[in-house]
Amino acid sequence: MPTSAYLDEASRSKQLYERALSVMPGGNSRHTVVMKPYPVYVASGQGCRVIDVEGEERIDFVNNYTSLIRGHADPVATEAVAAVIRRGTAFSLPTETDIRLAELLVDRIPCIDQIRFCNSGSEAVLLALRAARAATGRAKIAKFEGCYHGIYDYAQASDSSRPANWGDVERPTTTLETSMSPRVGEDVVTLPYNRPDICKRLIEENADDLAAVLIDPLPAALGLLSPAAGFLGFLREITEQLGVLLVADEVLSFRVDYRGACYQHGVEPDLVALGKIIGGGFPVGAVAGKEKVMEVFDHRLGEKVHHGGTYNGNPVTMVAGYEVMRQMTEDEYARLNENGDTLREKLHAMLDARGLAHQINGRGSLFSVLLTDRPTADFRDVSAARGDHPQLVNLVHEMLARGILLGSRGLFGALSTPMVREDLDAFVVALDESLEALAVS
Ligand SMILES: Cc1ncc(COP(=O)(O)O)c(C=O)c1O
Repeated sequence: MPTSAYLDEASRSKQLYERALSVMPGGNSRHTVVMKPYPVYVASGQGCRVIDVEGEERIDFVNNYTSLIRGHADPVATEAVAAVIRRGTAFSLPTETDIRLAELLVDRIPCIDQIRFCNSGSEAVLLALRAARAATGRAKIAKFEGCYHGIYDYAQASDSSRPANWGDVERPTTTLETSMSPRVGEDVVTLPYNRPDICKRLIEENADDLAAVLIDPLPAALGLLSPAAGFLGFLREITEQLGVLLVADEVLSFRVDYRGACYQHGVEPDLVALGKIIGGGFPVGAVAGKEKVMEVFDHRLGEKVHHGGTYNGNPVTMVAGYEVMRQMTEDEYARLNENGDTLREKLHAMLDARGLAHQINGRGSLFSVLLTDRPTADFRDVSAARGDHPQLVNLVHEMLARGILLGSRGLFGALSTPMVREDLDAFVVALDESLEALAVS
């Protein structure tokens, strides 16, 4: 039976975890690295491979939760960063580096005229929602049940929804962590994904107070469920009619297309939150949109949204982001996304051969597999489908033992440009064997 060295009693990973526990609650700075009994610690990464501290190599299908579109240590970006850090990494004065990345992104994304940088996707969403409030003079935000948008209170509401607390689908309860003020719930309207009739009623009821509808066009927390045909168009239309802004969170989904995910649906949001790949492997976020909305940030017009941030637009991130995005030409996207299609086809064939009911979601370089025959449209359906095979909680270990790195989202992954067909085949073989080992039938 394959196993991983990090699980040995005397492993370096175990020792590191014990050290970490004494200085960090739970031994980490982000919950996504939590793994039972403890995480495998990484030593280095190159291309699509990572080497753990025990010396074992694996193909990385997580890519730091999708943020590394060109894999680890992209040679061009690494060289550019090495050159820039020798000249200083952060200044109290602007540099040319953020202008170059801003120009590249504004050129590429048809629905945006302007952009501003910050340091995480959470901040990007926060800034987009604050901009929407400033632009409309309204306080409430509508978001979709179960969708993850980072850790800003108003965006994180309803992430912790479960059957015990989510209420009637006709009016989903806005669930909150105990760390949030209960008053947050008064300003968040929770909508069910892909249920236009319910959304219409809830948006109309709240229209006078509603600043924004926040939507992820390919939500990972919902197993990359695509918006049903016409759903994004419906949201665009109703928000426009009611003077509500449509805010697209493309922090993750931007990676599916040269021009982003909303572009594929022919929908132009008012504001877009970006992050992950645009930082070229360094911490990043950005809020972007039409000039008439983005002017709320303009100091010449009264600076309705004050936007500080010690490391905003820092040269290291801006140079890495520029070099990575510059290499992501339309041809490069086509090649990467073709690999995504190939992987999805191979997964279908393998799961069919095993006689397992399944749905394969995702587009471009993103994929997610649900082993279910239930129809899925919203978060509640996906949650039910995820409960069908409880033994899948151990999948990550089975895959690690077979040379594949998966993350805490289960059968979800992201490809990177260094991957070749053999890497995709290795994934499918490892999954086939893992399903056998876990007796998933
Ligand atoms: C859709 C989406 N929005 C926002 C965020 C938050 O981004 P960050 O982790 O950079 O704060 C994430 C992170 O995974 C995300 O997937």
